Amino acid sequence: MQSKRNYSLKALNTFGIEAVADRYVRFEAESEIDDFISRHAFKESRHLVLGGGSNLLFAGDFPGTVLHPMVKGIHIVEQDKDHLWIKVMAGETWDDLVAFAVNKGWGGIENLSLIPGSVGASAVQNIGAYGVEVRTVIDRVEAVAISSGQRVVFSAGECGFGYRSSRFKAEGQDRFIITAVVLRLDRHPRFVLDYPGVGEAVQALGGASLNTVRQAIIDIRQHKLPDPAVLGNAGSFFKNPVVEYGVLENLLERYPDLPHYIQADGRFKLAAGWLIDRCGWKGRCVGRAAVHDRQALVLVNRGGASGQEILDLSEQIRQSVDQRYGIHLEREVRVVGPDQ
Ligand code: FAD
Ligand code: EPU
Repeated sequence: MQSKRNYSLKALNTFGIEAVADRYVRFEAESEIDDFISRHAFKESRHLVLGGGSNLLFAGDFPGTVLHPMVKGIHIVEQDKDHLWIKVMAGETWDDLVAFAVNKGWGGIENLSLIPGSVGASAVQNIGAYGVEVRTVIDRVEAVAISSGQRVVFSAGECGFGYRSSRFKAEGQDRFIITAVVLRLDRHPRFVLDYPGVGEAVQALGGASLNTVRQAIIDIRQHKLPDPAVLGNAGSFFKNPVVEYGVLENLLERYPDLPHYIQADGRFKLAAGWLIDRCGWKGRCVGRAAVHDRQALVLVNRGGASGQEILDLSEQIRQSVDQRYGIHLEREVRVVGPDQ
């Protein structure tokens, strides 16, 4: 375990924002988490559980303790002729896990290739991309309750997964350290190729296999999304709004080319990137913050931006989408700072 005072988080968030935590504690073994939590009462003091920092915006210094579980490990815990259940420790890097599974010939997460961040956080917002969400393979989530140190296991049903949401992003936020996720992977992969552009890219690589799907997704992502190592960002800044048919119908009268996708519950998902793009934001810079020039849903740090600058830009964008379309965008990225 490492514990530091007044610790810079700049290298620990993909926006590359300078922010200082009062205290930073890094765990490399599960027993260190148990020991630390049992010795500290977090009821009054603030804390933040950190993964890869790829879905966070620090809007200022963090006046509390950052808890950073970096425990690694992948173990098969059960198997039958069709499936494997693997327990993956929270500190594993998500995309290393995808590469590992694809190499072994295990299906289920190949469409989630190249999503930054940790395995622990994959359950926090139920990561999703190119027609797949991680909830389809999560069997259970193991955690430690921060207030009591008690170990808890949540079945997939108890996690409350939804589009970019779960109990860990709602009422359970900051209450648990997720220590491991148990995934159920498929020995006989079934490929999901219906997201626009994926099927064509896979065909161009010679047809569907775990490797070609992974490669096609990586190619598509690298074309559209900025690499945080080069240009600070946290992926989509807002969620795609989900609206009732009546709202969609009104919008389609005025904007017949508005992209919309029917959801399982009969509502419709709109493309926030399209709304922001059509408000003229794509590629625009405001000081050191900007809107990415190939994906309007992604805000970027052009170098040296403060979290507040990015936040201000996001609020301007939110206002213009609200004014033009009457749609209130909800943040996907979590804003963390002295007041949030
Ligand atoms: P962090 O940013 O460190 O934390 C996010 C939240 O999870 C915080 O509330 C934090 O407190 C909590 N948390 C983290 N670890 C734990 C833990 N062990 N226990 C309890 N709580 C925890 N997301 C998608 O869904 N789909 C995409 O296609 C996608 N593409 C992206 C592309 C880019 C270029 C970038 C930069 C981001 C993208 N994201 C995407 C967002 C991001 O990668 C995911 O949300 C990812 O799961 C965040 O993981 P993290 O470890 O970085 O979490
Ligand atoms: N679009 C525009 N202009 C833009 C961006 C998008 O017109 O600047 C249009 C596209 O042409 C397309 C539609 O919007 O018709 C959707 O765009 P895209 O396929 O790029 O996906 P997205 O809805 O913008 C979502 C996720 C991504 C995920 C991709 C692929 C959310 C908030 N974002 O983006 O996730 O990788 O689909 O599944 O759901 C993330 O969560 O951080 C993230 C990157």
